[in-house]
Amino acid sequence: MTKILGIDEDSLSVCKTIIEDGGVVAFPTETVYGLGANAFDTAAVNRIFEIKGRPNDNPLIVHVHKDYDITALVEEIPYYATVLAEKFLPGPLTMVYKSKGIVSKAVSCGLATLAIRVPSHVGAQKFLKYLNLPIAAPSANISKHVSPTSAEHVFDDLNGKIDIILDGGKCAGGIESTVLDCTGDMPVILRSGLITENMIKDAVGECGTFVYDGHGEVRSPGMKYKHYSPRCNTMLFDSDELGQALSTYDEEDKKGVAVYLLLGGEHVLKAGGRRVLNLGKTAEDMAGNLYDVLRAGEKCAQLIIAVTPENRGGIMEGVINRLSKACRSV
Ligand code: TXA
Ligand code: MG
Repeated sequence: MTKILGIDEDSLSVCKTIIEDGGVVAFPTETVYGLGANAFDTAAVNRIFEIKGRPNDNPLIVHVHKDYDITALVEEIPYYATVLAEKFLPGPLTMVYKSKGIVSKAVSCGLATLAIRVPSHVGAQKFLKYLNLPIAAPSANISKHVSPTSAEHVFDDLNGKIDIILDGGKCAGGIESTVLDCTGDMPVILRSGLITENMIKDAVGECGTFVYDGHGEVRSPGMKYKHYSPRCNTMLFDSDELGQALSTYDEEDKKGVAVYLLLGGEHVLKAGGRRVLNLGKTAEDMAGNLYDVLRAGEKCAQLIIAVTPENRGGIMEGVINRLSKACRSV
């Protein structure tokens, strides 16, 4: 049975022993919960892949304490990256650099680069400081399932598979960090998140976005996989297709299917008496609620009919990206 523990001297000391012995521990961050192991220990890193059932070509992010000197792990840190780190770290921005090859090769699945993140969550900082090690960690869910934003979510996925979940409350951010390639002349977003393209442009003048079209080069291998999916059937409609979504709901409801609408913003007001999984009003609400709502939905719904919210821009990019990955059928 997995224990959920508050973050204090006692629990941190237990975690330190587990990590130093090659085990894994779940811990909170401001985005989602992570499943961490010592990044220098190949067997421990491989254990993460095993526990999650994660494809072995999808690299992990290394998490470090805010005072950790990352030049020990990576090289060729461009000037723009120094500016961005100064402005946004600790925080939900993962930066990809050329690796020095010091951490286990299993972390980056053989890539020449290493993704580094300095989470701002107070509990995460305590954990990383106490261990004083770079911690390789993906989100603490079973691969392809919805990411966890509370200790209970982690427990639902990993009970019996790990010893300890450190409980740092509900994650404030709610969607994963922005992944930013910092190996070229300008920063390029590989995964959208809470630090947006405009925030990066405002800070350093330029920022590209890598769009994976399903073919050819994958710069962030995670992008090619189905992700964030609730364990029930799903359908996704565009924001201007609310009418179609409502009539599909009515047809399914008539057939006796336990169908729920997943709506955000103004759409919620138009649902009539239908069953709704409510993402909330603002972009921040929607990011914060998305995974909780998907996990609540899979417990009661046979079919979730999602409608892309009308809110656009900024962090909605990340929210809509996660929603469409959660609800696509392949
Ligand atoms: O907010 C977050 O980033 C959370 C918390 C726990 O920190 N972590 C997280 O990890 O979302 P994960 O493993 O679920 O997603 C990591 C993403 C994947 O899309 C992966 O392909 C990409 O980061 N990634 C990792 N290392 C990379 C590298 N060297 N080059 C390009 N992409 C990389
Ligand atoms: Mg993940």
